[in-house]
Order: sequence, then C-alpha cells, then structure tokens
Amino acid sequence: MNDIAIQVIQMSKNFKRIFDKPNTLKERLIFWNKSKSEVHHVLKNININIQHGETVALIGSNGSGKSTLLKLMSKILYPNQGSIITNGKLTSLLELGAGFHPDFTGRENIYFNAAIFGLSKKQIENRMEDIIAFSELGEFIDNPVRTYSSGMYMRLAFSVAINVDAEILLIDEILAVGDQHFQDKCFSKLVELRDSDKTIVIVSHSLDTVRRLCGRAIWLYNGEVAMDGDPADVIDHYLDKMIEDHDSSQTGPVEKVEGQIHFDEPLMNEIVVDVSEPLMVRGWALCNIANTTLKIYLDGMEIATAMRERRPDVLMTYHDMYGGAAPNAKCGWYCPVKLNNYTGLHSIDAILYNNFDQKIITQDRIQIKIEGNQVIS
Ligand SMILES: Nc1ncnc2c1ncn2[C@@H]1O[C@H](COP(=O)(O)OP(=O)(O)O)[C@@H](O)[C@H]1O
Ligand SMILES: [Mg+2]
Repeated sequence: MNDIAIQVIQMSKNFKRIFDKPNTLKERLIFWNKSKSEVHHVLKNININIQHGETVALIGSNGSGKSTLLKLMSKILYPNQGSIITNGKLTSLLELGAGFHPDFTGRENIYFNAAIFGLSKKQIENRMEDIIAFSELGEFIDNPVRTYSSGMYMRLAFSVAINVDAEILLIDEILAVGDQHFQDKCFSKLVELRDSDKTIVIVSHSLDTVRRLCGRAIWLYNGEVAMDGDPADVIDHYLDKMIEDHDSSQTGPVEKVEGQIHFDEPLMNEIVVDVSEPLMVRGWALCNIANTTLKIYLDGMEIATAMRERRPDVLMTYHDMYGGAAPNAKCGWYCPVKLNNYTGLHSIDAILYNNFDQKIITQDRIQIKIEGNQVIS
C-alpha cells in the first residue's frame, strides 16, 4: 500500500481579484474595456508529502492560504499549476454551510452524508444513535438544519465526520466554534483518532492545540512553506516572525502609549496559607512599545523585576482581536514573592516602565490575605 496520504506537487493557486467593479450602466460603459483585475498568488509552488497516520497542523497568519490549501486537498478547489494526490477515504470539516442540506433535518442529513461516504443503510442505522449522542443535539436532531446555531451545526458536522470511517480528516478552525465542553470533547476525539491510524490535517488558531495534538506543523508565509517540522520549533519561528513583521510595519514613534497588565495569579482577595515557599505571582502585559521593564511592588515597595516569558495564548488572542502581533515578544511575566515575614492584608502591584524608567502602565492592585503565618519579628 502507498504510505503517502496526501501529496502536493509543485502546486500553485491564484485568485483573480477584480476591483472597481462597475455597478451602474454608465460605469460599465465607461469601463467596458478596462478589466481592472489583478492575479493574487495565494499559494506558490507548494510541495508537501503527508504520510498515512500523521497529524499535521497548518499555521500562518490570516489570509496566508490555510483554508485554500485544505479546500484544494479536499478537491473543492483546483490548482492552477501542479497537482494534489490523495490516497484514502477523505472527509473534510471546512466552512460552516457546506455539506448539509438546510431544509432537511439533522437526522436526514446524517443519512445523506453517511450514504455519500458509502455506508450502507444498516451501517448508518447502527451508528445513528452514536452520532446523535455525540452531537448532543437531543430532540433537535429532528429539526431542519437551517434552524441550528453555528455551534449546533458544527457539533453535527463533527459527529458525522468521525463516524464515516474516513482515513483522512481535514479540519478547518472547527474547534473555535461551540462551547468549551464540546471543544474538549472534540479534542479528546481527535487525540483518539490520531492514536489510531488516521491522517489528520488541521488548521487551528490555538497554538496550544497544535502543540498538544500534532506531530508536525507546516507554516505558510507569503504563499510558500516557510517551515515544516516539529510543532514547537515551527511555532517559535512563526511567533518571532509575526512580532518582527509587526515591529517593522510600525513607522515612526508611537503617538500614545497603550497597554494592559493582567494578573493570572493570585486572584483578588486570595487567602494565602502556606508562605514557606515564595508566592508565585504571574500574568501577562501587552503594550504598543518594545523594551519595557515590569516591576513588582509589595505594599507600594519595589521588590523585584518580573521575569518575562512567552505566552502564545495571549499573543494569539491579541492577534485575532487587533489583527497584529503585540510588540512584546514575551508578554507573559512571573515573579516569586517571599511572604514568610508577612501576615494579614497586603497589596501587590505591577508597573510597566519604558527605557527611560518612566512609568507607562500601572495596574489595579491585587490584594491578598495571609493567614496562619507565624510572624517572626
Ligand atoms: N474564492 C476566493 N476568491 C478570491 N480570493 C480568495 C478566495 N478564497 C480566498 N481568497 C484569498 O486568498 C487568500 C488566502 O485565503 P485563505 O486561504 O482563506 O487564508 P487563511 O485560511 O490562511 O486565513 C486571502 O488573501 C483571500 O482573500
Ligand atoms: Mg482560514
């Protein structure tokens, strides 16, 4: 048997961008001979081999061509050059809206989809209850799919996809839809599929998911494969590049310094009992200027400069919300605070300073209560 599940060979994909599309008859007459279009090279000469049983993530910023590549793999789109060969029964969870007939019920759609995948009526009947149970749609399964929320739709699509005996699963951002409980359930299911002999190609914004789930990550940048390998390495380079691009796109000095400092721990009014070990204070800080120092204060007195660490989760959230990476490569921070001589109520502050030792962002203070400690005076 062929070991290769998906082979992308010297493949390029272009889209034609048409702008200034004439709307009125007058415009059409004026522009009739001027076709204002431009070829947009989304993917350029891509070569990828994916073996059976691999779990591969596609990463890259918005518009880098991840969804397009998945659509090409599932033959919804065709390349302009080169080819894509797939070996094995393939199912894809792509954009919502594809795959189901809106006027039929969830149950009817399960029948149609499973039948398309070559399952017999008996096989479908045997699996029906499992599929419905996994989807958690309950009695909604007999309502038309057009009445479903995007979360319900996704739950049904995922449940069908994992039950049609596909050998190759292509998944686009699906884990971003739905509640945490279902996301966790999907994640566990994907781990199970990964550990069987399935081939999975997944696009996920959650780099944490990519790290935990995938054995390989492919980073798309400027239409090309920028890196292909161990997820931890690829993610590191990808984040560095995102930050570099963000910094170089910033021209001139920042007009207004903005940012935010957040405490993950301790929580407000947390009661601290054991002070034999330093209390770990940690959180994240985002700011639109680089080279900052974060200092930690206990009861208004400076006690330490916080250590900085990478926080891909925060960076990605920021990236999604504001469309750019934060300039602080290490937006996470932590600082051990010795409390063995303290009891009662105390406050902790975190303050961000610029290069000139000017306070630029201060944070609402966190208050803690130390209990059960013998004060040594
Ligand atoms: N059907 C289409 N027609 C024209 N341009 C498209 C089409 N689909 C995607 N694109 C363009 O191709 C680029 C890559 O898109 P996409 O694959 O959706 O990126 P990603 O999933 O990485 O965010 C984007 O610039 C997008 O605007
Ligand atoms: Mg996409």
